[in-house]
Amino acid sequence: MQKNILIGVTGGIAAYKVVEVASRLKKSGANVRVMMTRNAAEFVSPRTFQEITGNAVSVEMFGDAANFHVAHIALADFADAILIAPATANFLAKAAYGIADDLLTTTVIASDKPLLIAPSMNTKMFDNPATQANLNILRERGAIILEPATGELACGTSGKGRLPEPVEICAAVEKFFDSGNLRGKKILVTAGGTVEAIDPVRYIGNRSSGRMGYEIARAAVAAGAEVVLISGKSELEPPLGLKFVKVEAAVEMREAVLAEFDSVDAVIMSAAVADYRVKNPAAQKIKKSADTLTLELVKNPDILRELGGLKKSQVLVGFAAETQNVLDYARKKLVEKNLDFIVANDVTAAGAGFSVATNIASIIWRGGDVENFPKMSKAELADKIIERVADLLSGDKKFLPL
Ligand code: CTP
Repeated sequence: MQKNILIGVTGGIAAYKVVEVASRLKKSGANVRVMMTRNAAEFVSPRTFQEITGNAVSVEMFGDAANFHVAHIALADFADAILIAPATANFLAKAAYGIADDLLTTTVIASDKPLLIAPSMNTKMFDNPATQANLNILRERGAIILEPATGELACGTSGKGRLPEPVEICAAVEKFFDSGNLRGKKILVTAGGTVEAIDPVRYIGNRSSGRMGYEIARAAVAAGAEVVLISGKSELEPPLGLKFVKVEAAVEMREAVLAEFDSVDAVIMSAAVADYRVKNPAAQKIKKSADTLTLELVKNPDILRELGGLKKSQVLVGFAAETQNVLDYARKKLVEKNLDFIVANDVTAAGAGFSVATNIASIIWRGGDVENFPKMSKAELADKIIERVADLLSGDKKFLPL
């Protein structure tokens, strides 16, 4: 998410959770700045936010004589959106009535940027008519209020007033910015490599990092889709705002994919599915004995080919990672698996393939057209793939005969 997010932290115990919010937003590509009230700085040190965001944290209105008179304006100008988390009852009251008595509230008043507010407080404070009236005033002015969750509160009671989980807050921010050309659509993405057990401690795997698929899932979320990411082995953190299903073996991935297939508008199979699995994985660790060991392998189901047979209106996108005759092999897979398009790449080319951040790919369309892309980041290629899926689903691009 290439956005400037200004986080305003007010003085609630949930301030510590906002460290993770800042961290996740930063990891998703946002430029994050944090301003805190003095009370918030009692709960979490400004230095923590500074380390996490890589940006100076502002607390005092008059702290820096050199630029105190412009700090609130500069912060307001910086932001594409302001997120207040946690928002105390005191903050809501001040913001509702335009009170500007510290840097944070002054910045909010000085800003015409979208305001997202995540209130967090004791249930009675939240339910108090004054708080509810203040929330209504802010809502009517266009602020987006993230409903607090219900659960145990720091004061020892239980009820409504908990700050939503960091991942949910970040998803709300992402959703606010999404461009929306896949809004209302459900997209299934597979990623990573499958893991085929040999015994309880060993497996057959492959070099897939999962990066391409995770970027595609991120791009689909950013385009407003409901996304299910089914992932084999990958060290990456799943993107925000999607349903994440972790699997190991190809047969498990097949089951997870089939469980979703009827309800999705498109499937993008970027997983590196093992073609074979061990016929009889050992129940106990295999002990070293003879000089050679033979594993008998049996063919795995071809998930994408099966989807090609079941396909009704779903868009189907496959990948072809090749080491030679790239376009010919890819075209053959497109036809055999009944795909709408296939993304082909030579995994041996410099700047393409596993574990690198870039890719050099071609898209081969049903009907025969070929688009050759220059070397680009996997994130950029993911955006291109998602744009094309959106075009197909919106009817801007025709479904072609084979
Ligand atoms: N695929 C799949 N199930 C498999 C193997 C592959 O769904 N058992 C999918 C991959 O996710 C990819 C496409 O099919 O989108 C092509 O995968 P690839 O491994 O390149 O091709 P294979 O059909 O396995 O052919 P080969 O290994 O002989 O190149």
